[in-house]
Amino acid sequence: MSSQVSLLLNPAFRVAPVRRRTFGAFVEHLGRCVYSGIFEPGHPSADEDGFRTDVLALTRELGVSSVRYPGGNFVSGYKWEDGVGPVEDRPARHDLAWHSTDPNTVGLDEFMTWAKKAEVEPMYAVNLGTRGIEEALDVLQYANSPQGIALSDQRAANGSPEPHGIRMWCLGNEMDGPWQAGHKTAHEYARIATEAARLMRQEDPDLELIACGSSSSSMETFGEWENVVLTEAYDHVDMISAHAYYSEKDGDQASFLASADDMDHFIESVVATADHVRAKLKKDKRIMISFDEWNIWYQHRAESRPPSGDDWPVAPVLLEDTYSAMDAVVFGNLLISLLRHSDRVASASLAQLVNVIAPIMTAPGGASWKQTTFHPFALTSAHARGEVLDVRLDAPSFENTRFGTSSAADAVATWDEESGDLAVFVVNRGNQDALDLDADLSAFGDLELVEALTLHHEDPYAANTESAPETVVPQANDTIRLDGGRLVGSLPEISWSIVRLTRTSA
Ligand code: AHR
Repeated sequence: MSSQVSLLLNPAFRVAPVRRRTFGAFVEHLGRCVYSGIFEPGHPSADEDGFRTDVLALTRELGVSSVRYPGGNFVSGYKWEDGVGPVEDRPARHDLAWHSTDPNTVGLDEFMTWAKKAEVEPMYAVNLGTRGIEEALDVLQYANSPQGIALSDQRAANGSPEPHGIRMWCLGNEMDGPWQAGHKTAHEYARIATEAARLMRQEDPDLELIACGSSSSSMETFGEWENVVLTEAYDHVDMISAHAYYSEKDGDQASFLASADDMDHFIESVVATADHVRAKLKKDKRIMISFDEWNIWYQHRAESRPPSGDDWPVAPVLLEDTYSAMDAVVFGNLLISLLRHSDRVASASLAQLVNVIAPIMTAPGGASWKQTTFHPFALTSAHARGEVLDVRLDAPSFENTRFGTSSAADAVATWDEESGDLAVFVVNRGNQDALDLDADLSAFGDLELVEALTLHHEDPYAANTESAPETVVPQANDTIRLDGGRLVGSLPEISWSIVRLTRTSA
């Protein structure tokens, strides 16, 4: 059985320019993300700095624009100084967040070397949990100040004479969460974030500063946290963060498939709160959102449980979720939501990049492979160009426990006026029926179809593994064709598709 999804696209339905920073990711000192993820001296592909070149190549292929570092929960107990200077002098430390030992072989300077090789912009988080304003200023001076003061001279002595020039700085991580080292009330956090931001900007006026928002839309403090923090910090910060993780719970496939409804609600609620503060403080500037942790994460599974007791392993296997075809569809839908909100989401970071809830997996000493989620990210990053267009959509709906009623389809498009390239990203998130696609593209003039790819598997739980890394990959969708100004075809149940078109040359 199938029913229809009608789309209406028009170059006038502009939301905002596509922002490259939408395609950021995250590298935390957690599990095997750093050690045996990006960094593994002795691996056959390791370069002169110990970085896995197979992972570097996959990072570039993924189309990652920026990378947040060094945490996450890890950063709220981190001493950045432990990770600079001669490696043999660096102390090993317990990381309380993940009950692990960090040898500190990789630190700020190594990360910056890796970021250059990966061709990504760095985003750095300071510790406002167990530490404070002084340490935030210290790491800023170490990273960004020209030579001539103690900390920048130390950086030069450590091999980086030129400032690293990091623009995006996170003022702590998830400070609203009771699990966070140095967890704070909204008022406590608002004060320290404001003072850190004010002084950091005195040191370096060009910074883009991100205050901690909510670590989920289900936090009890959600909404009021943003209100309190922005009321205090409005003049001093540029963005407020949002974090969200989704998973299928108790076999409730329908609610999981509709997860992007929560992301839409989350973003729109933070925008409403930020604009309320803007109105009450009579400000001109608008606060943007940094959605700097988002993904599918099965937090209740054993692989997400940190070690305990006397065991403090280095780089344990942690949060190594294997993603299914269905996970990739929900994931692709989350990207649709982020793109659709490009007017206010100025930056986003997929959490995380390698091994830890990641699109890229590695075997220590062995192969690397792409999870199912790699594909929607890489294709969206590669082909979202020009302006983001809102899509008017009419589709059947489905019932689910979490959201009540959700649309069986969701879509966004991008249009590059100059090149004439149009990309349509669409999901069928119903789990029963294929949908007949009928998209009205007549407003774009004459177009030709470049390619139509669909990610779908008859078993929604099928996954890619080291031994079968191509089980779930996007396939050409031969049903999709242009019929005059209409794009028609079929979208299988639980599927994500990209349709690329271009203006026909006269
Ligand atoms: O990405 C995994 C963890 O999720 C991060 O360390 C933390 O910020 C969030 O709770």
